[in-house]
Amino acid sequence: MSLTVSRPKINDAFRVSLQALDIPERLLLGPGPSNSNPDVVAAMNRQPIGHLDPAYLYLMDEVQSMMRYVWQTENPMTLPISGTGSAAMEATLANAVEPGDVVLVGINGYFGNRLVDMAGRYRADVRSISKPWGEVFNLAELRAALEAHRPAILALVHAETSTGARQPLEGVGDLCREFDCLLLIDTVTSMGGVPIFLDEWKVDMAYSCSQKGLSCPPGSSPFTMSERALQKLDKRQTKVANWYLDISL
Ligand SMILES: Cc1ncc(COP(=O)(O)O)c(C=O)c1O
Repeated sequence: MSLTVSRPKINDAFRVSLQALDIPERLLLGPGPSNSNPDVVAAMNRQPIGHLDPAYLYLMDEVQSMMRYVWQTENPMTLPISGTGSAAMEATLANAVEPGDVVLVGINGYFGNRLVDMAGRYRADVRSISKPWGEVFNLAELRAALEAHRPAILALVHAETSTGARQPLEGVGDLCREFDCLLLIDTVTSMGGVPIFLDEWKVDMAYSCSQKGLSCPPGSSPFTMSERALQKLDKRQTKVANWYLDISL
C-alpha cells in the first residue's frame, strides 16, 4: 500500500513563524476546542515537576476531586487520561471489553460510529441501534434493545456534537442494572456544558475531554469507572489489550 501525503498549501499571511511562535488569537465559539481560561494559560507557563513530587500528588488529588465534582460522582477511579477525548473513550472500552463481549452502541450521530469502530478493534461482538441524526433514544426503545441483544455494555453519547442532541439519561442506569449490563457514556461535549449526575444516573463508565466545556487545552481527558465496572475489570480472563491505557496497572 502506498501512501501519498499531499501537503496543504498555507497562505503566507497565516504561516506560523516557529521563531516567534506567532500563533494567531482566535475567538473559538464552536462546541470545542474552546478558548482556554487565562488562569489555565498562566498555569501552563510553569516548569514541569516530577510525577513523584508531593506537590504533584497534591495537584493530582485536587484535579481528581474537581473532576468528581463536575461529573457529580464519588468514583475513586476518576482521573485524567493523557490524550484527547478519543484516548479516554478508548480507555473505557479497552478496560471494559473482553473479546466476545456484546457491546450495544446507540448511534444517532457521528460519535456513536467511533464507539462501534473502537469496540470492534477490542474484538467485541458489536451491535448497534440507530436513530436519525438529531433524535434521541427513549426508555422503551432502550429496553427493547437490551432485551434483544443482552449486552455486557450499553454505550451512549450524552451530547452528540454533530447535531447538538442531548440524550436523556434518567432511568437508563436502572434499566442497565435490570439487564446486568454496564452503562458507558460519552460526555465529551456535555461536561461543563450541562449538569451531569453520573452517580444518580447509575453510569458505570464515562469519559470526556479538556478542550471543550472545561476551557483547557486538549490532552488531559477525564475518565471514570464505577465499582461495578472495576469488578468487571478485576474478573477479566484476558489482559487489557492496550498497555498504556490499562487501568489495572
Ligand atoms: C461526542 C464526542 N465524542 C468524542 C470526541 C472525540 O474527542 P477528541 O477530539 O478530544 O479526541 C468528540 C470530539 O469532538 C466528541 O464531540
